[in-house]
Amino acid sequence: MCGIVGYIGFKKASEVLLKGLSYLEYRGYDSSGVALMTKGKIEIFKAPGKLNNLREVLLKEQNICNKSTSGIGHIRWATHGLPTELNAHPHTCNCGSLVVVHNGIIENYKELKNELEKYGCEFKSQTDTEVAAHLIAHEFSKCKDLMAATTNAVKKIQGAYAFCVMHKTMPDKIIVARKNAPLIIGVGEGENFIASDIPAIIEYTKKAIYLNDNQVAEIKKDSIRITDLEGNLLENKVEFLPFEPVALSKMGYKHYMLKEIHEQSDVARNVLQGKLTNSKSEIVLEDVKLTPKELKNIKRIQIIACGTSLHAGLVGKYILEKFAKIPTDVEASSEYIYRDTISDENTLTIGISQSGETADTITAIKQVREKGSHVLIITNRPDSTMARLADSLLPVNAGIEVSVAATKSYMAQLLSLYLLTLYLVQITNPESVKDKEIVSLKQEMLELPNKIEAVTNNTKAIKETAKKYSSFKDFIFIARGINFPTALEGALKLKEISYINATGYSAGELKHGPIAMLDETMPVLAILNKGCVYDKVMSNCEEAKARQAKLIGVTNFIDRKSKDLFDDILTIPDISDTLSPALNIVVLQLLAYYIAEYLGKDVDQPRNLAKSVTVE
Ligand code: F6R
Repeated sequence: MCGIVGYIGFKKASEVLLKGLSYLEYRGYDSSGVALMTKGKIEIFKAPGKLNNLREVLLKEQNICNKSTSGIGHIRWATHGLPTELNAHPHTCNCGSLVVVHNGIIENYKELKNELEKYGCEFKSQTDTEVAAHLIAHEFSKCKDLMAATTNAVKKIQGAYAFCVMHKTMPDKIIVARKNAPLIIGVGEGENFIASDIPAIIEYTKKAIYLNDNQVAEIKKDSIRITDLEGNLLENKVEFLPFEPVALSKMGYKHYMLKEIHEQSDVARNVLQGKLTNSKSEIVLEDVKLTPKELKNIKRIQIIACGTSLHAGLVGKYILEKFAKIPTDVEASSEYIYRDTISDENTLTIGISQSGETADTITAIKQVREKGSHVLIITNRPDSTMARLADSLLPVNAGIEVSVAATKSYMAQLLSLYLLTLYLVQITNPESVKDKEIVSLKQEMLELPNKIEAVTNNTKAIKETAKKYSSFKDFIFIARGINFPTALEGALKLKEISYINATGYSAGELKHGPIAMLDETMPVLAILNKGCVYDKVMSNCEEAKARQAKLIGVTNFIDRKSKDLFDDILTIPDISDTLSPALNIVVLQLLAYYIAEYLGKDVDQPRNLAKSVTVE
């Protein structure tokens, strides 16, 4: 949450900062600001609302912008204080000589504030960040060394932070520090960059240093000096950044979300490539570091994740228990971390995260590592904090996902879980890989990309249904078995981008309470694949129909009965129940997209959300 950009070099800093912030908008977008270093002065510009507002402010300040070749910028997702201009970053000390931008939460800000007020510090905003500006300035007044002042200050700060700091008397440097919030330093020629995430700087450089927790760096245009909190000089480990700037283009689609939904057939191909070649071949998962003996000793699996990644984990439970026969628990990281949980060396913990930066999941992973569990991370960001904590890493290769609503990363997570399950079966029960069901699942996985294309290339019925139902204020999504998580994920997609109240229920639970809400104002969307629970879901649909609810069916099977029962039917190509979550979800993503688009919502940047949730 919140995005940070910094630049020092020879380019117009305002342009580098604005462009960088635009690629970090997914991290928050309620206000933004920049501080530009000019001769002997730091100029601050802020604006509430979307980044365009700041762009307009800067357009009127071209005189200053033309002169400045270093600065820091911030895009905010409010944690402390309303998203106003006053609370927007950068924040300053009393005299305005020192400026700070911050991502994270300062947990002991109240204590620090009380202490600093005794020294005459005056606070103008409601943010925790302003405390850091005063604290670093206070330390600077004692040592006159910006790097030492920042180091001394962060030693007193509890919580999570990535900071960029500038002082008007030291125009040749920017100081950065990090703990539990991502920060990278982009390495250029005669210029250097700072960012919360790669997209902000990838247009300028493909070389970067990942700052680690409890490290501080002094960044000048032609040098970078990194130390630990004791002041010991550390090595600059320069790494190659894995993205191409083209990945950030909309490629002609109206929204990133639509582009990313359409990319899912290729994402599926990428995930399978090199790992599953034909229905009889072995699964190759080189990144799983457990030996066959260790894999055979796994007595239990626990999957920890949040949001959409949690829903992928729920599908994972079904297939891991069905095929690998290993008891599997799935839990939201935010709940997991506040319980006395049990795990040991015979527990495999799977952390799933698109961003690899979700604070709750990171905390959970750290907890289980201490208890001796092997940690396998499934993430779209092999460069993330979570990936760095992993014992085994399963990168999902979905490519950069810009839209806040996760779509293609979900597809990649699902398929990675199917591959992992089949891999476990192969190791723990080699004989069973010849089973008809396993061979046919592999065959279906190979055919899946073409089936996804069949859905994304034929959206007419989905668009019409979206238009027809866009005026409803509430929805219920139901399914049973392996598609229950699909109902949860479909409802999540709809509510997050259209703000329509949508809840996913296990179809069998409907009659235990939710059915009380049903009438003609509450459409019910049922996901029902021909398989063992089809008839049961049909009965639940009958019950809903009897309460006058409008019924939408998402299915691979139509007969006279379903034609009579459903008001609208959205079909998917034929597929087994086992793999159907990977196809049904594409229909639900498109339905949510077209409803939100029809309602004129800000699809890629829904209100109150951020793509990378780096606070607990
Ligand atoms: C929903 C969505 C969120 C994320 C959740 C976890 O579309 O994107 O629910 O899935 O915030 O994020 P990651 O997967 O990055 O850990």
